[in-house]
Amino acid sequence: MTTVYNPLRDSRDRRLPRIAGPCALVLFGVTGDLARKKVMPAIYDLANRGLLPPNFALVGFARREHSDQDFAKVVHDAVAEHSRTPFSEEVWKQLSEGLRFVPGDFNNDAAFDELAATLRRLDVERGTGGNHAFYFSIPPWAFPVVTQQLKRSGLSDPPPGAWSRVVIEKPFGHNLESAQELNRVVDSVFAPGSVFRIDHYLGKETVQNLMAIRFANNLFEPIWDARYVDHVQITMAEDIGIGSRAGYYDGIGAARDVIQNHLLQLMALTAMEEPVAFDAESVRVEKEKVLSAVVLPQELGLHTSRGQYGPGWQGGVKVKGYLQEAGIPKDSKTDTFAAIRLDIDTRRWAGVPFYLRTGKRLGRRVTEIAVVFKRAPHLPFADSAVEELGQNAIVLRVQPDEGMTVRFGSKVPGTAMEVRDVTMDFQYGESFTQASPEAYERLILDVLLGDAPLFPRHREVEMSWKILDPILDYWAEHGRPDQYTSGGWGPKSSYEMMARDGRMWRRP
Ligand code: BG6
Repeated sequence: MTTVYNPLRDSRDRRLPRIAGPCALVLFGVTGDLARKKVMPAIYDLANRGLLPPNFALVGFARREHSDQDFAKVVHDAVAEHSRTPFSEEVWKQLSEGLRFVPGDFNNDAAFDELAATLRRLDVERGTGGNHAFYFSIPPWAFPVVTQQLKRSGLSDPPPGAWSRVVIEKPFGHNLESAQELNRVVDSVFAPGSVFRIDHYLGKETVQNLMAIRFANNLFEPIWDARYVDHVQITMAEDIGIGSRAGYYDGIGAARDVIQNHLLQLMALTAMEEPVAFDAESVRVEKEKVLSAVVLPQELGLHTSRGQYGPGWQGGVKVKGYLQEAGIPKDSKTDTFAAIRLDIDTRRWAGVPFYLRTGKRLGRRVTEIAVVFKRAPHLPFADSAVEELGQNAIVLRVQPDEGMTVRFGSKVPGTAMEVRDVTMDFQYGESFTQASPEAYERLILDVLLGDAPLFPRHREVEMSWKILDPILDYWAEHGRPDQYTSGGWGPKSSYEMMARDGRMWRRP
């Protein structure tokens, strides 16, 4: 095979272990759930895997009057409880020497000056090299003030040869307008390549594998289009309720919480053309083409569905309905289930609907992308022989049982011709010995390395709101969500929406 040198293509060998260089990560919002359950454990796991350098520091910033030691205890407890890899005293000792805490309010100039001084001291004491990542694990109302404080204290301008990056957690606004405003504030302070918007689904191994499956093989791509595909179903189901997140969730709901980001990103990766290279710009361009080609159904009431969980049983335990959860107003109209149909107006996908659904308190926790194929154009068998034959499908199992299933028809052993559906399975756990890292490990490492392919850009976020806003407006003007029983698979309206198209939801 002749290889041609492309001078524009990134030719780094990506099999080499990617180890972060000297740097400090500043975590705003250290007491939140996300920081304790995901961010701090992921930092420890990276250290444990040898992917953080000795000159790494973690600085906590929050309103409480913690000392460095108090902060170390917070991190220690979070790591002990939630990290993926085993606890090692040696790794912890190394990591804990780089822990600092700066107390302060987001409006307090002096606190940010102290943060700047702490980072300068760490550059000298720990050798962090002036490289700083600022992680916003804080509510969106606080983004503008913290961003301005970073600018005022000079922290957004890195010293020559160093970098300064900002990591933003969703929600990126609650509609197009607020997202634009948020982007304007952040982009006015940080250069575009320095803003990392986290969509943790993109950090999941199986989601990255979607790109590997599609673009590293010759087997799937030729049939990945409107000639062969009937429709695509993307499901992200959770068995949990809203737990203690009433404050965040009520008024936001399932569509804003999950469809706007995770599911539209999964759809874009499923539908996009092959990027010219696996770099941030090339992947972004292809995802944006998909998002810009999305069309909404004419009659939103007939092709979308929203629900709110009522009381029920889950895993043998009696559970409350959404309106009975602590902190939820008795007349809340927040959707805890949302399903929508979208079409993608391109040659590849003309006439192939994409159905996206998500919900809390559903039958089980599962995320999957099911590409369902058209029936064979002709079957040379008696009708009775193919009665049990369904549609072929390729199902990418994102979680929890990571892998891929291919469903097709096969002859039932015996003297007569009878065809029935069978499945062929690929399971991560069986094919690979190493366990998959947590999404946050991958994404935090990418931030520290400045590697951006797995982070949605500003325009993608805005395009996703553009898709969702008319649906949210329609729902706001038309009644309230349908109730569904906890432990089931969503409201009747979601089945009806599929039945109108002559299709059915898969039971994952
Ligand atoms: C978050 C949502 O983005 O994803 C949560 O805000 C949801 O509501 C969570 O529970 C699910 O993440 P995962 O990785 O457990 O599927």
